[in-house]
Amino acid sequence: MNNHNLLLHTGLKQKAVPTRETSALDTIHWGAEVYNLNKSSLYNSLSVDRQNQILKSLNQNTLVELLRIERIGTDLSRCMSENATDDNEHLIYAMISGEEVNHYMSLASFANPEAIKSDANRLVDLIGQIMYSKNRTAITFTLQVVLEGFSLNHLRRLKQFCRSEDLQAALNMIIQDEARHHGTGLITFKDQQDSHTPWDLTDVKTITPLKGFLNMFQVGPVRIVKTVEKYSEGLTDAQRIQLFQELDSEIMVQDYLDDFKKIMISAKASSLVDRLETDGYFKTYSFQNMHHISKELQA
Ligand SMILES: [Fe+2]
Ligand SMILES: [Fe+2]
Repeated sequence: MNNHNLLLHTGLKQKAVPTRETSALDTIHWGAEVYNLNKSSLYNSLSVDRQNQILKSLNQNTLVELLRIERIGTDLSRCMSENATDDNEHLIYAMISGEEVNHYMSLASFANPEAIKSDANRLVDLIGQIMYSKNRTAITFTLQVVLEGFSLNHLRRLKQFCRSEDLQAALNMIIQDEARHHGTGLITFKDQQDSHTPWDLTDVKTITPLKGFLNMFQVGPVRIVKTVEKYSEGLTDAQRIQLFQELDSEIMVQDYLDDFKKIMISAKASSLVDRLETDGYFKTYSFQNMHHISKELQA
C-alpha cells in the first residue's frame, strides 16, 4: 500500500460530528488564560460583567478565525482535487474537502451567525492570491504545509483550554483529521519538490502571501487590546502600552513566529526561511510599535 492509499484508507474511518447543546453566544468557551489576560492587572481590575463581555467577544473572534481556515481548507482541497495528477490524489482531496465541510459545520454551530457573514478579511484576501496563482506547489506548501501545520498546533492549544465539553469534542475530531491533512500536504509537497521542476519558494507568488500571514501574527495582540478598549471605558496611551506589556505580547508573538519557522524548516524550505528572516518576518514588534499600530487599526 503506497502513502496515498494509506492516507485514503485511514481517512475513510469517518467520525460523527459533535454539535453544541448550549447557546453559542452566552457561553465562555475559553477563559482569560488563552489570551494572557489573566496576567493583566488592568483586565483584572474590570468588573466580572466587563471581563465576560471581553471574553465572549474574543471567543467569537477565535471561532470566526477557525471558520475562515475551514473555508480555506474546503477551497484548497476542491482546487487540489480538480487539478490532481492521478485518481488517488483526486480521491484524497475530494475526501479532505468533505472533512473540511464537516469541520466548518461543527464549529459554525458555536459561532455568531452575523459574525460569520461578515467575511471581508485580510486572511481571505491572502488566500485568494494563492488560489489565483493556480500553482499546485505554492498552494500545497503555503496552505497545507504551513497554514494547516500551524492551525494544528493552535487547535491543540485551544482544545486543551476549552471549557465546553461539546466544543472540545468537535476540536478533537478536527485535530485528528487536520494531522492527516498536514501529513498529506508534506508528502505531496515532497513529491512535487523531488520532481524535475521543483518550485522556488522564494518566488513572489509564494513569499508575498506568506509575508502577509506572518505579519497578521506580528500584530495579533492588537486585536486583544482593541477588544479590552471597546468593553472598558477606553484606554489612555499609557494604559494601552501597559496592556501590551502585561499580555507578554512580544513573547506570545515570538512563540507563534517560531512555530511557523519550525514548520517551514521541517519541510526543508531553508532558502525561504532565510529570506523571511532577513526581511524581518520572524521578529516580533516592540510594545511601542504595537501600540502605534493599534491606534491605526479598527477593532
Ligand atoms: Fe479543517
Ligand atoms: Fe484541513
